[in-house]
Amino acid sequence: MPQSLIGARKSDLDTPVLCIDLDKMESNIEQMAEFCREKKVQWRPHEKCHKTPAIALRELAAGSIGVTCAKVSEAEVMAAGGVRDILIANMIVGERKVERVASLCRWADPIVACDHFAQVEPLGAMCRRQGVTARVLIEVNIGLDRVGTRPGTDTLHLAQAIDRLQGVKLAGVMGYEGHLLTLPEPVEKRRQIEESIATLVGCRDLLLKSGLPCDIVSAGGTGSYQITATLPGVTELQAGGGIFMDPFYRHKCHVEGLDYALTVLATVVSRPTLERAVLDSGRKTLNPDVAMPLVVGHPDAEIKRLSAEHCELSLGPNSQDLKIGDKVELVVGYGDFTTVLHDEFHGFRGDRLEVVWPILGRGKLQ
Ligand SMILES: Cc1ncc(COP(=O)(O)O)c(C=O)c1O
Repeated sequence: MPQSLIGARKSDLDTPVLCIDLDKMESNIEQMAEFCREKKVQWRPHEKCHKTPAIALRELAAGSIGVTCAKVSEAEVMAAGGVRDILIANMIVGERKVERVASLCRWADPIVACDHFAQVEPLGAMCRRQGVTARVLIEVNIGLDRVGTRPGTDTLHLAQAIDRLQGVKLAGVMGYEGHLLTLPEPVEKRRQIEESIATLVGCRDLLLKSGLPCDIVSAGGTGSYQITATLPGVTELQAGGGIFMDPFYRHKCHVEGLDYALTVLATVVSRPTLERAVLDSGRKTLNPDVAMPLVVGHPDAEIKRLSAEHCELSLGPNSQDLKIGDKVELVVGYGDFTTVLHDEFHGFRGDRLEVVWPILGRGKLQ
């Protein structure tokens, strides 16, 4: 048996390695939970940035009501880890998946999203056969133009059809204002988010006026939650990635507060010139597509290029003493796309390794 690394110092770990600063993550979780409490909305954080039941349980302890996830297989991982109230914010299509959702109803209390009767009808039939009831949310297109019903009569007609169907229960509506996260001008960003969310709340009003249930109005990502949580009618927030924070949320979405909690520790493996260093952490370790990672403690070092296994840094005068073998920590540019490259999180309390969590939802794509 290999010896446990628990208690080791960060610099003693082999690299590259995915690290969580536990104090910062816990503080981010507390801040997001407290913000939701203050604004009187419930928090159902998206788990796609961590895919790890241990972290979902930490969010629940801080006051979340459950999780949002994207896939049935992720929901199964969360349910096995002890989470009950699970929103699968995605369309569930195909006999096998419908059967999995019905089975999941015996172990948890899932909600699935839909935007067409063709998704709900087979789910209702399977649930009736299995003697269970699955909750369903209608996803409304509030401007992202990805999936979602058209607001208005299309949404109402789907809601009426779901309400008549045995085996499923209409729980409400959801929308994702993902197209507005990076608007640079704060007044305009707020105005457009208000407009999108008003469209969603308008759908709720239409359903209620027609005598249909609509308990849940779910929306919001980390890039918008500080606005969306304040808007009338929203009952729960899906924002999740803020527990790690990252340069995408900070610099492209202009999210305030919250601390960078997710890093990759790397090693300098080559020093081709005075102004260049090469690290052992390329695109198979860090995904730079949404936002570039940042170099911790070396403000004049910048990532110039990432290839599969190499990260090239350009070094200013204050970083040129970096030597082959030195360890360098990088703030992950966008958590979601980096987490899925790794088998484990290494959680540090200060400089000491406190916990190693297998990322149990990694590879759960169905
Ligand atoms: C349906 C849905 N909800 C919420 C989010 C926001 O998640 P996060 O807060 O992790 O950015 C996303 C992001 O892609 C999403 O697709």
